[in-house]
Amino acid sequence: MPNKVLISRSPVCEFIGIMLGVVTAKRRLGAACVFLVVFSCLRIFAMIRHVGLNSIGERRVYTGDAPQTILTLCTTFVESELRIPLHAAVVKNWGQLKPHIRPVLFTLNMTSVLSTMARNHGWDVVLVTSFNSHHTPYINNMFEYIYNHYKSEYYGFANGDILFSRSLAETLGAIKNATGRKSVMVVGQRNNVNYHEISSNDVEFWQPAKIQKYMCQYGKQEGPLSLDYFITSPYGFPWSTIPDLVVGRERYDNYLLLMSIYLLITTVDGTNSIDNLHLKGRDKTLTHFDLDVKDKKFNEDAILNFGRINFADGSVHNCEYFTRTRKVDISIQRKLKWESPKYFEKFQSNIKALMEHNR
Ligand SMILES: *[C@@H]1O[C@H](CO)[C@@H](O)[C@H](O)[C@H]1NC(C)=O
Ligand SMILES: *[C@@H]1O[C@H](CO)[C@@H](O)[C@H](O)[C@H]1NC(C)=O
Repeated sequence: MPNKVLISRSPVCEFIGIMLGVVTAKRRLGAACVFLVVFSCLRIFAMIRHVGLNSIGERRVYTGDAPQTILTLCTTFVESELRIPLHAAVVKNWGQLKPHIRPVLFTLNMTSVLSTMARNHGWDVVLVTSFNSHHTPYINNMFEYIYNHYKSEYYGFANGDILFSRSLAETLGAIKNATGRKSVMVVGQRNNVNYHEISSNDVEFWQPAKIQKYMCQYGKQEGPLSLDYFITSPYGFPWSTIPDLVVGRERYDNYLLLMSIYLLITTVDGTNSIDNLHLKGRDKTLTHFDLDVKDKKFNEDAILNFGRINFADGSVHNCEYFTRTRKVDISIQRKLKWESPKYFEKFQSNIKALMEHNR
């Protein structure tokens, strides 16, 4: 560990000497210089740790309070009259995925219809305290909250209109087996279904055991640039070092994947094994397209203020690994000829050097 190298015993002793006033004036000056140098080195190391190590190699490892809980999964809802039935299906679906998945709802109103319903279905409901001027919550704060308040192998956010099956927890178990203590970012493509159509055929369509069947029957896979869920290892992404991004608005999804690749986090495309249904109305209705949103460009502006980026590189096809469902289990495979975007290389060599240095 570098701090063992940096703190030799003597400057510490010197410092104590200064504090106690027992060393001579000349030695005091020398000691003060040494102390200043050591202090600066530690500061720099702490900063490197903050943006570097926490997000790349090492991290705290949790065993989990409930041993079965592999994922703490959070979301937030838009409580318009039309969307309540759609979100209600998500409340029931995620509630059924306990205890492997722990659902957490971030809300602006603790007593709203959906907040109350979520609590009744075993969710944790948490007041949103951090949002932009249009009351759209920041994803950064949601992740920091769940990292700090819950114990599980993985932490995620999914949009509030996605239904999952047990394949989500199974896939994460397989990823855990394959990647061990590496930092990972898991994403995947969604499968669109018409909420009105599916709910009129079967009122219990949201049951986890039915998701795969309906996905095959009705689902239309969305393109590789629309990511609706993000799953990281504990403290696996440096949320405090990127711009504040809001959920449910364009572009933050591609940016998060790109940043993960850039920071040498292991990226996994879970599309092939994570069954899901994305509930929407006909065409683009009941999605963020038909909300009268004033902050459409919020994320894009925040990101481009930070630096130029090619959003098209933030596609699931650029993940380093992908999952595959086999007869008896789920395998994790590396893409042949995987490489990160060319323009990252010169920055990444700095990160690699830091990782070597800190090893
Ligand atoms: C919260 O939701 C409840 C129930 O729908 C409603 O009566 C109340 O006015 C809402 N509060 C706010 C601040 O919107
Ligand atoms: C993980 O590995 C263990 C031991 O090899 C195995 O028993 C378990 O089934 C694996 N879990 C998954 C989800 O692949």
